[in-house]
Amino acid sequence: MTAKCNSKTVFIARLLKATLNYAFSASIMRKKTFYLIGSVSFICWTVILCYLFIHKPLGKGFKYNEVVIQVENLENELQSQLKANELLLLHLKNIKKQIQETGKDLKKILEDNPDALDLKSDKITINKEDSICVLLLACNRITVKRNLDQLLKYRPDEKSFPLIVSQDCNHRATTNAIMSYGNQLTLIRQPDMSDIPLVGREKKFKGYYKISRHYGWALNQTFHKFNCDTAIIVEDDLDIAPDFFEYFRGLYPILKSDPTLWCVSAWNDNGKEALVANDPTLLHRTDFFPGLGWMLTKDIWLELQTKWPKAFWDDWIRQPAQRKERACIRPEISRTKTFGKIGVSNGLFYEKHLKFIKLNDEFVPFSKRNLTHLLKDNYDVAFLKSVYGSPPVSLQQLLSGSISTNGSVRLTYKTKDSFKKIAKSLGLMEDFKSGVPRIGYRGVVSFMHKHRRVYLAPIAEWKGYDTSWT
Ligand SMILES: *[C@@H]1O[C@H](CO)[C@@H](O)[C@H](O)[C@H]1NC(C)=O
Ligand SMILES: *[C@@H]1O[C@H](CO)[C@@H](O)[C@H](O)[C@H]1NC(C)=O
Ligand SMILES: *[C@@H]1O[C@H](CO)[C@@H](O)[C@H](O)[C@H]1NC(C)=O
Repeated sequence: MTAKCNSKTVFIARLLKATLNYAFSASIMRKKTFYLIGSVSFICWTVILCYLFIHKPLGKGFKYNEVVIQVENLENELQSQLKANELLLLHLKNIKKQIQETGKDLKKILEDNPDALDLKSDKITINKEDSICVLLLACNRITVKRNLDQLLKYRPDEKSFPLIVSQDCNHRATTNAIMSYGNQLTLIRQPDMSDIPLVGREKKFKGYYKISRHYGWALNQTFHKFNCDTAIIVEDDLDIAPDFFEYFRGLYPILKSDPTLWCVSAWNDNGKEALVANDPTLLHRTDFFPGLGWMLTKDIWLELQTKWPKAFWDDWIRQPAQRKERACIRPEISRTKTFGKIGVSNGLFYEKHLKFIKLNDEFVPFSKRNLTHLLKDNYDVAFLKSVYGSPPVSLQQLLSGSISTNGSVRLTYKTKDSFKKIAKSLGLMEDFKSGVPRIGYRGVVSFMHKHRRVYLAPIAEWKGYDTSWT
């Protein structure tokens, strides 16, 4: 239906263009009210035409739910039209300014720039210079309100962080919940509700296929339709820290200037209270893609968009072919925390682990701090010096508390199994994805143990990750 309405929209746009051109040639332009009248008529035109074109008599097979969805989709189309209308108004204002400044008449301006009134372009730029779009993915949980309330509470201003909510699943109560926020956000809806045919044991993974389809579509909308330059991606089950936006704003210049980085994440996979230092300013690099509140640039999306996977996008993105040895920035203390998820994700994992992640509660003015120590060349030198300059200890020494020095220490692992054994006894995540342990950087996992910095590290002559470690 969306496609149908789009072709109608083009037709409507043409009609309007004609109307406007007529209005111009009638030189009503002088009056400021023209803009107002113009925009009001534009809206009326659209509403009436869209309604007439879409409206079909309700036949015998009429289903209440279908009608509801149609009406909701129509509502979305109208919202898009309003955006388009804003764009038109912007064009008109530009032209007016040109007339005032250059003294040229309208005909001349349109001759010089034939696209001045072009509405064909469906690019709706909500992205202003230096702004970072926030993309929230929602489905059928009305608890999305918990997340939205926090996003809107902590968002410094709308211009710097335009909020796009993308909804999959056609769940009416969730749509209503999102729409109750009015124009504080832009709602878009994944249009492809078709079933994904799967056979055998793949069937039980259908949820993951749908998530991947939604992510791919929503990211494309964000970077192409809304023309965002950078986006922060969040899911509908996240609590955020008070400095969530400040964290991303502060790290934005670092992400843009260091080609060996490809994401900034708000999440520490080993962020349990006992495993982190009580220092909210502390930031690290990691070879492990953490997700759970993360920022990426359009350039990276352009790389990924054509090969986006049908399912399990987060494991896919961690593969060497996608990562290309790039790292993410992650905080010592998480800026996000999941508040529990019913659905495709594992509830047990939440109860055993995610629940204990510490969420930062102190505001750090990252955008005013000098963060250049995170650039690869600076970071790696200091990091390696710190890791391999720390005295080596055994797991037993660490656990028994018999270490006489006060500073950081290093535990060495040589095999996958020795890593897992140590990780398990210290309460760290034990798994690998494409050979990379969680929060690992150059094979090293950095954490706190009884107020002491500990590096769980491979030998100094480490040659890179072994993708057979899973
Ligand atoms: C995103 O859009 C591009 C360009 O239209 C297209 O090539 C690509 O397949 C799309 N990707 C996804 C995941 O939809
Ligand atoms: C940031 O810190 C580095 C040293 O870590 C220094 O060389 C650089 O000049 C500082 N930049 C600013 C803008 O203060
Ligand atoms: C370790 O720290 C304690 C208290 O902070 C201090 O009294 C002690 O002298 C330190 N020991 C060494 C070897 O630095």
